[in-house]
Amino acid sequence: MSRGKSGDRQRRSRQAAAENASPEYGTVAAIDVGTTKIACLVGELSAEGTLARVIGTGKVPAKGMHKGVVVDLELASRSIHGAVELAATEAGRPIPDAYIGVAGSHVVSMNRTVAIDNPNDDNQVTSAERKQLMEHLTTVEVDPELQLIHALPREYNLDGQDGIKRPVGMYARRVEMSGHLIYGAINSIQNLIAAVSDAGIEVDDIVLEPLASSEACLTEDERESGTILVDIGGGTTDVAMFVDDRLVHTAVLPVGGNHITKDISVGLKVPLSAAEEIKLEHGHAQSHVVEDIEMAKADAGIFGESERTVTFSRKYLARIIEARVSEIFHLVLAQAGDSGFLSSIAAGIVITGGTSQLEGICGVAEDVARLPARQGLSIPPAGAVDIPGNPVYATAVGLLLYGSRQVHHRGPSQPSKPSTNAQGFWNEVLEKVKGWFGQTDKT
Ligand SMILES: Nc1ncnc2c1ncn2[C@@H]1O[C@H](COP(=O)(O)OP(=O)(O)OP(=O)(O)O)[C@@H](O)[C@H]1O
Ligand SMILES: [Mg+2]
Repeated sequence: MSRGKSGDRQRRSRQAAAENASPEYGTVAAIDVGTTKIACLVGELSAEGTLARVIGTGKVPAKGMHKGVVVDLELASRSIHGAVELAATEAGRPIPDAYIGVAGSHVVSMNRTVAIDNPNDDNQVTSAERKQLMEHLTTVEVDPELQLIHALPREYNLDGQDGIKRPVGMYARRVEMSGHLIYGAINSIQNLIAAVSDAGIEVDDIVLEPLASSEACLTEDERESGTILVDIGGGTTDVAMFVDDRLVHTAVLPVGGNHITKDISVGLKVPLSAAEEIKLEHGHAQSHVVEDIEMAKADAGIFGESERTVTFSRKYLARIIEARVSEIFHLVLAQAGDSGFLSSIAAGIVITGGTSQLEGICGVAEDVARLPARQGLSIPPAGAVDIPGNPVYATAVGLLLYGSRQVHHRGPSQPSKPSTNAQGFWNEVLEKVKGWFGQTDKT
């Protein structure tokens, strides 16, 4: 009975979403090129230009990837093609271009503050001053191997008054802007773009993965109150810190769920494939929760001619997992401490990505950081349906939300101008950065 009612409700929501779908805005696609899986989503936009529903989903194991970066162009490209084909078939339409996530420990970020004297006689701040400050913010000498990915203003200080988010229209003699800059290694980003291009997809834009995941999983209140978003995938742990609704710190750490699997493989003397199964079926991140006497048995693959099984204490397994998970959260906490914003984190830690499904993981985060922790699943935008809730899709859903905003900002009549190759992409970077300036600053 209740199932029938919820089925009816879902049917009605789908019908409403379909009726609200806009042929003008069309669809938007996203590809999360992860270390363990490639996920591609196709989203249909509403008449208002917001994400209305996901109409295509494709997920395949990732090949040619290591710790978030492309290490084999051909294999990576083939995996990307596989995920895109699945999503395109389900959506019933081709996918010519997509928003792409970027991660890897080559990503570096910094906070910077710049200031100018207001040139206007009446001391009113205009968008021209804001633009000039953004240009100053991004004019910083960095390693020539690095390329700017995002430039995000955080707050303004007008004649010594800090905490101002929207300076345009206000009056001040001296205007100061603090912002967050995110860079990635040119070669790593070019390899990613080349893998996507070789799969026949044009790149609409690249987005830092932790930024995308936080777009999907955080509430407005959490961003405002101060939250650390931690996306623990297979090869990386992505961190994004928000305070006062602004991004204050980002990092990509080269450690994730694959390291837990490797530890289990070494600890229980089983092959990696068996260790992965054991982690998913019997794993727990808090050893004190598991009873001393609990034993488990699992297949350990074929050794020579014979099939092996392994019998182990679940508490011992939990100790192996706990050590690595605890290390990951100590690294996250060190990042948060270095940022200088740790004391402003009031809401706590939101954990997403595939490894967030590990039982007891929030408990370890709470013990290490002494902050509340919860699992982060994608929060569907108002009225949207069929948004995949599994945390392995958090980054891809965030990329769709980001892409929808860009399409909406451009307007229905403006088609995207994706780049056909890596060089073309970089030629357009300056233009895109100018675009980000306007869109990320909410003034
Ligand atoms: N139920 C589960 N319990 C524990 N770990 C899990 C579970 N399900 C998936 N994982 C782990 O999640 C990881 C994959 O997560 P995800 O798909 O988010 O990674 P990815 O995006 O491919 O990698 P990355 O973000 O590091 O580049 C794997 O290490 C996998 O073992
Ligand atoms: Mg990931």
